Amino acid sequence: MEEHISIAVDGPAGAGKSTVARAVAKRLGLLYVDTGAMYRTVAWLAVRFGVKATDENGLVRLLDEYPVEFRRDATEGTLAVFFQGRDITPELRSPDVSAIVSPLSVHPRVRERLTSIQRDLRKNTGVVMDGRDIGTVVMPDADVKVFLTASLNERARRRAEEFALKGHTVEESEIRDSMAERDERDSSRDIAPLRPAMDAHILDSTGKSIDEVVAQILNWVRECAK
Ligand code: CDP
Ligand code: CDP
Repeated sequence: MEEHISIAVDGPAGAGKSTVARAVAKRLGLLYVDTGAMYRTVAWLAVRFGVKATDENGLVRLLDEYPVEFRRDATEGTLAVFFQGRDITPELRSPDVSAIVSPLSVHPRVRERLTSIQRDLRKNTGVVMDGRDIGTVVMPDADVKVFLTASLNERARRRAEEFALKGHTVEESEIRDSMAERDERDSSRDIAPLRPAMDAHILDSTGKSIDEVVAQILNWVRECAK
């Protein structure tokens, strides 16, 4: 198999991209890159420094003034986000960050910055990268492209279960509404919208286990290596 294989996993919120991409990366010894965490990092900075999601100049200035570090965890093969020496990765999924991440992801200059970091990360290593525009914009030359979906109800149920495991009760209908709104915004923006690449494998994970989805992707990787 090619040494620097690249696998793109795109899809709507809660489709299982991070879970499955991380597992595939682990199986193949590749770096897992969660590009959503990068957009969430900009949102985290915006919340912390009081910059509005509509203020493109302000957001770009934040990235200039407060360089964040995406550090590779050698044992896990994942990236952790460090701000001024502190690991902020667990804070990236907070509700205030989630509320503004999609609105600020529409800005071309924010996307340019992050896309360039994402492309640099794959220079010397094989990757599994997940997001919204990986197969279409970030790695249009990826060896295997997967567009992972699931019904909105199932995606909302999965997220509600995640919250419940962490001891938080969040109404499934509330999660469903905010997911639907985010998907709509991500799919309808002018730049790098959420959509499958022409050559992507479409994989509907509704009713499928994580293992089944991982096995299917590994099959596609094997096929492409033949
Ligand atoms: O985990 P979840 O699917 O809920 O979201 P995420 O992957 O962490 O991404 C959060 C948001 O970042 C998305 O709703 C998009 O607005 C944005 N994003 C993007 O625009 N492009 C990417 N490649 C990744 C994320
Ligand atoms: O990254 P994305 O927002 O697409 O999804 P995620 O953060 O990986 O969350 C998906 C949730 O659904 C996790 O709790 C998984 O355990 C669960 N799940 C899955 O990922 N794939 C399945 N086929 C079934 C459940």
